[in-house]
Amino acid sequence: MIRLVVFDAYGTLFDVYSVSELAESLFPGHGSALSILWRDKQIEYSRLISLSDPLNPMGSRHYQSFWDLTRLALQYSCQRLKLELTPVIQKQLMDQYSHLQSFPENLEVLQTLKQSGMRCAILSNGSPEMLTSAIHSAGMHGLIDKVLSVDEVRQFKTSPQSYGLVSDHYRTDVREVLFVSSNSWDALGATWFGFKTFWVNRQGMPFETLGPRPSYSGNNLRQILDLL
Ligand code: LAC
Repeated sequence: MIRLVVFDAYGTLFDVYSVSELAESLFPGHGSALSILWRDKQIEYSRLISLSDPLNPMGSRHYQSFWDLTRLALQYSCQRLKLELTPVIQKQLMDQYSHLQSFPENLEVLQTLKQSGMRCAILSNGSPEMLTSAIHSAGMHGLIDKVLSVDEVRQFKTSPQSYGLVSDHYRTDVREVLFVSSNSWDALGATWFGFKTFWVNRQGMPFETLGPRPSYSGNNLRQILDLL
């Protein structure tokens, strides 16, 4: 019995690689490489910080918001690819990141869930401001019950403290939560935490060889409707 659907944001609701189009127009021949490296570095920095910080949010010394990590990851990626990141180009790419494209079926799936009375939340590494702007530009406001940001616990996914935000905000048993992510590592972390999980495998990738498989998987978001 599923009582709450929790979505990851970046990669799942919003296409982080959609920045490659703008990146390609700014740095011809490098758009795809830049968008991939940028994403990998952003996630690497989030893990580096959460591994190095104490669990108590009051004692965290290295935590920086996901927005700041996104900017630092962009700066690193441009240095690595030897691309000149002027302040104007950085602003253009960061502005695009706060208005990422949503995958085509996502809005309709959220509307269907809302109409059926199912509660939907977001749990994301994203900082509150960047999530608000992405949700508004995708027209998803009003469809999400709560937007939970790990900023509250200053621990990024896949720390148990980050997934625990769902239990902090909802009284639902973890086994009654369907956690939906396109990021295989996030689906794995959420499965370890105890949620039922749906991995949206849009690119036909293999699942991680580590750990248990997610409870369900499919190649687009519409398939979660069959589970409810
Ligand atoms: C998020 C990361 C996984 O939205 O992109 O939490």
